[in-house]
Amino acid sequence: MKLLFNHASPFARKCRVLAIELDIAERIDWQDVGAVSPLESNEYLFAHNPLGKLPVLKISDRQVLCDSRVICEYMLEFECNLTAQARRELHFGDLHLQALADGLMDAALLIRYEVMLREPNQQWQAWQKKQWFRIGRVLAEVETNLNDFERDGIGFSVLEGRFTLGQIALVCALGYLVFRFPEYKWRNEYVALSSWFDFQSVRKSVKQTAPY
Ligand code: BEZ
Repeated sequence: MKLLFNHASPFARKCRVLAIELDIAERIDWQDVGAVSPLESNEYLFAHNPLGKLPVLKISDRQVLCDSRVICEYMLEFECNLTAQARRELHFGDLHLQALADGLMDAALLIRYEVMLREPNQQWQAWQKKQWFRIGRVLAEVETNLNDFERDGIGFSVLEGRFTLGQIALVCALGYLVFRFPEYKWRNEYVALSSWFDFQSVRKSVKQTAPY
């Protein structure tokens, strides 16, 4: 199996963290495609994925998977030793958490591209503001649900120390905010989430995949 990634992509990071958590990282040929820009075409990447997006998993000469959700599902389904029971425990609440975290990453990437690639006088402030609004709403929702999940023990539990796909996505999304938007002080407002992020950040898989 070959996985195309780069060290900045939060979506590729989800797959990298999951591979380490599942102890299958050694079986993957990791291909760093280097810097990618939405305005330039990385021919190697497009040859594997017509969308030209990371991550991409090549599972055979004939079959390629794209999109971090698809790749993570594949890893969970075929490449790990999880029992059916453990698999069922990947509750829909956790998939919902993954969707929220992925949405946060999408919004952050849209802002990043706007700020990096557009001339300041061409930047659309109202549109950027809308992305920040979405990010704030996701953070608020997750902050609230972190407490609920801890109390009710549904979906995932911080205290049990399980690290689910939704949690992996959330760590990658928050890590991307810290990496690309250090001036955004979300930690002051979302204190429980901030502690949770610090708690998970000492994991080997999270440390090894820190963006740069
Ligand atoms: C970034 O440099 O922020 C980035 C690179 C690849 C994918 C997503 C983001």
